[in-house]
Amino acid sequence: MSEEIYYPNPEFAKDARINSMEQYWELQNSAKEDYEGFWKGYADEKIEWLEPYDKVLDESDAPFYKWFTNGKMNVSNQCIDRHLATRGEQTAILFEGDKGDVEHITYNQLSQRVNKMANLLKNEFGIKKGDRVVLYMPMIPEAAYAMLACARIGAIHSIVFGGFSAEALKDRIEDAGAKLVITADGAYRKGKPYMLKPVVDEALGQGGESIEAVLVVKRNNEAIEWVEGRDHSYNDLIDAQSDECPFEPMDSEDPLFLLYTSGSTGKPKGVQHSQAGYILWAQMTMEWVFDVREGDVYWCTADIGWITGHTYIVYGPLAAGTTTVMFEGVPTYPDAGRAWSMVEKHKITQFYTAPTAMRLLHKMGQDEPKKYDLSTLRVLGTVGEPIDPAAWKWYYEVVGGSKASIVDTYWQTETGGHMISPLPGATPIKPGYATFPLPGIMAEILEADGTPTPVGEKGLMCITRPWPSMIRTIWGDPERFVKSYFGDVKKDGKPVYFTGDGAMMDEDGYIKITGRTDDVINVSGHRIGTAEIEDAIKKVDAVAVSAVVGKPHDIKGEGIFAYIVLKEAGSADTETIKAEINAVLKQEIGAIALCDQIAIVPDVPKTRSGKIMRRILRAIAKGEPITQDTSTLEDPSIVPAIEKIVQEG
Ligand code: PRX
Repeated sequence: MSEEIYYPNPEFAKDARINSMEQYWELQNSAKEDYEGFWKGYADEKIEWLEPYDKVLDESDAPFYKWFTNGKMNVSNQCIDRHLATRGEQTAILFEGDKGDVEHITYNQLSQRVNKMANLLKNEFGIKKGDRVVLYMPMIPEAAYAMLACARIGAIHSIVFGGFSAEALKDRIEDAGAKLVITADGAYRKGKPYMLKPVVDEALGQGGESIEAVLVVKRNNEAIEWVEGRDHSYNDLIDAQSDECPFEPMDSEDPLFLLYTSGSTGKPKGVQHSQAGYILWAQMTMEWVFDVREGDVYWCTADIGWITGHTYIVYGPLAAGTTTVMFEGVPTYPDAGRAWSMVEKHKITQFYTAPTAMRLLHKMGQDEPKKYDLSTLRVLGTVGEPIDPAAWKWYYEVVGGSKASIVDTYWQTETGGHMISPLPGATPIKPGYATFPLPGIMAEILEADGTPTPVGEKGLMCITRPWPSMIRTIWGDPERFVKSYFGDVKKDGKPVYFTGDGAMMDEDGYIKITGRTDDVINVSGHRIGTAEIEDAIKKVDAVAVSAVVGKPHDIKGEGIFAYIVLKEAGSADTETIKAEINAVLKQEIGAIALCDQIAIVPDVPKTRSGKIMRRILRAIAKGEPITQDTSTLEDPSIVPAIEKIVQEG
């Protein structure tokens, strides 16, 4: 473990919003002393209240916490209208297409386009406050217009990542009871068109009865099927709409969006976020963690289908009045220098990506960044998984020229925004550590009974006070919400939010995230529940039992390793079964869930009560020795048998 400490560049730090650890502790201590007062100060400064709130935090129905109760505001006003007087001609969204086509969309233009889209949703499709709208969109500006148009009229968007299959899309449409799908014919990736609309057609062919209409944006102009009466062309309808659509006054606690994410059991859960608390923290973290300033050009490489795309491509940057880059393509096309050439071309000041992308860029072109002028970069962010010290060093030295600050931001779909992260002008960094909770965030590493985990030991990463951008509930399943997040750890007799992650604190108070403690795998920074994968594998005829675990992978962080027990021993070989399983996974979930490796085994290790011992399977997949007592297993001899099969490949 590297214990080298990297201090913020003094040149940068002198102008940073938070520029010393003293200032950090002052803020954090002020939040501890007067929690509501702390949040009130920021809510009053950053939110344009249409009607004042009467209570900062209502804990009476815990864990269904409410923030800024009865206040009225609107998120699209926060992101657009209130900026127009001062930055109407500034670029809001800087779009770069896969093929290098560039469009600068000013705040004025964004306003016009979002207003038109909002009118279209209202007038043409009768979308009202509270209606659910599913977005199945590529990375094009219309995706952002659609999000903001929903926010403007109070509709609840639910974005489904474009890599999910028709089946996964249908499930999400049905769970949300959505009325409208907004999609595109497709888009471009690696120089070639790819399609989305056919996936929507397939999904709606299988179900999704609540859908009344499909709105289709043209991007690649490829031929698509058209269902008369159901399908509508955005490009044909949009021009006739007025560019004035007054925003709906929304209650602080009205839902802003749903975003489905994987848990350790059952089907994906619709994480529900709020209006005021969410946008407040999105803006505050943009300002603190990325230290965005006038004239900055900020680029987050995520997809809008994930929470990072929601908070840190669209809502956070626009609420902060920044220029946000939206990129349709992949950073490795046409070559490993694409991302760096974009940094040079657009004079990017903050670059935010996932360690998996960095590992890939590093592998494809270690010296590639040196060919470009990357001197505009001030803050480099990472998110989604732990970053190993070697990748960290490359990012710091080669990409950031040993001048830019690296922020390893730890958070989740459920937290809405960053929870634990360095402050780029203040925090001395130890690579591999997410460092300290942000001011206002009470993060603690605890044992299940709420006692603090001793320094240097692994414990449970908890957030012990509610925070404004936290998940409000799971759509349609409040009991699951309580059970999933407030069921495992109690502090002073009261349930606290448990993230599902393990963590460790060192003697200097630095926090290191050690990974999930539940059955969730992190593939390329994306969360996938093993239960979801196993449910899909059940559909393969020849399979009797499957047990899925994560296995370290050079680029993806974790890859999927499946242990398979066949109904009839010897009925198929590994390659055939793997192909069948992957075909089903592609169909049921999408390409992100494909297995890297499978092992056909005679049985899986189970306790006498029938529980699969995944810890043993994880160790075998990694090639680690089994340290656990196996004598209590139903059949201990199965362990060496599986080890032998895996070792022999
Ligand atoms: O395990 C943690 C990991 O990603 C999970 C959250 O995944 P998701 O909701 O898809 O959101 C990803 C983007 C915020 C967490 O429970 N994770 C996220 N950030 C980090 C991380 N693990 C280590 N270090 C991080 N910086």
